[in-house]
Amino acid sequence: MQPSALIKFREIIEEKLVEFLPAKTLVPKSIHEAMHYSVCGGGKRIRGSLCLLACRTVGGVWEKAITAACALEMIHSYSLIHDDLPCMDDDDLRRGKPTNHRVFGEAIALLAGDALLTQAFKIMCKHHPPGMADRYYKAAGELASAIDTTGMIGGQVLDLEGEGRSLTIDELQEIHKRKTGALIQAALRIGAIIGGASAEAIGALSEYGAGIGLAFQIIDDLLDLQADPVVLGKNVGSDVKKEKATYATIFGPQEAYGLAEEEIKKAKEALRSFGEDASDLLQLADFLLEREY
Ligand code: IPE
Ligand code: IPE
Ligand code: MG
Ligand code: MG
Ligand code: MG
Repeated sequence: MQPSALIKFREIIEEKLVEFLPAKTLVPKSIHEAMHYSVCGGGKRIRGSLCLLACRTVGGVWEKAITAACALEMIHSYSLIHDDLPCMDDDDLRRGKPTNHRVFGEAIALLAGDALLTQAFKIMCKHHPPGMADRYYKAAGELASAIDTTGMIGGQVLDLEGEGRSLTIDELQEIHKRKTGALIQAALRIGAIIGGASAEAIGALSEYGAGIGLAFQIIDDLLDLQADPVVLGKNVGSDVKKEKATYATIFGPQEAYGLAEEEIKKAKEALRSFGEDASDLLQLADFLLEREY
């Protein structure tokens, strides 16, 4: 079952996302419709929620992190639009609907991804709450570092270059850490920065982020093998089609799940120093392991 904090934050993030996007009716309509189509079309809002939860866990005012939570979700949506393109994973279904390029064409999908990336940094710079400029400046730097060629984009490149090859566990772990883990970890660090956390608290949340980030992608790979596509909202078998090595292909599904469990356990242990304040993040970690979509 989804933790209640996730449900609450998802609703808040979704409301705010619409506000932070350029209006759908703006000219040229095609690109604005494409942006709304992907950003407002479902999704668990894990990254945005992690940001708000991290802010609250360190004793910050979570409402002040909403702009950052929306920026994270815009960047995540951009990464999915591009990930689904024919030149990458070539997928037709996302969040239970045809992928962006199937509806708007490849050129608009590419530009919608670019526009979401741009909009994310625009809102970080121009729409942060009063008095938060310094923290948002630092947070924007964290965000950029997480998704550059040393982070998410580098991970996507390694993922593409790994297709059709057998990978070592170290190589695969590096791909997962970068393509998926980096943004998840950044979500936590950013929430903590906006909440005014100490270096120790940011360190603990980073460790938690590393664990849940890796587990998240292991589970994503398992779901790609054996989930119900209607529940998952994506077609299954995408990794097999692209001959991608995954934890499941290296270890088998059962052992891969066990490794995800271990990562979640380590992640939860990293939050010890927060005591009761970490209860939502602990629950969220368990949910990531049990999720069916
Ligand atoms: C899917 O992420 C892409 C990966 C990084 C594995 P999510 O499973 O969080 O996607 P949504 O946002 O809920 O659709
Ligand atoms: C996507 O990983 C990672 C990023 C978008 C950065 P996947 O390719 O496994 O994600 P899905 O399965 O398409 O959601
Ligand atoms: Mg991919
Ligand atoms: Mg994909
Ligand atoms: Mg996948």
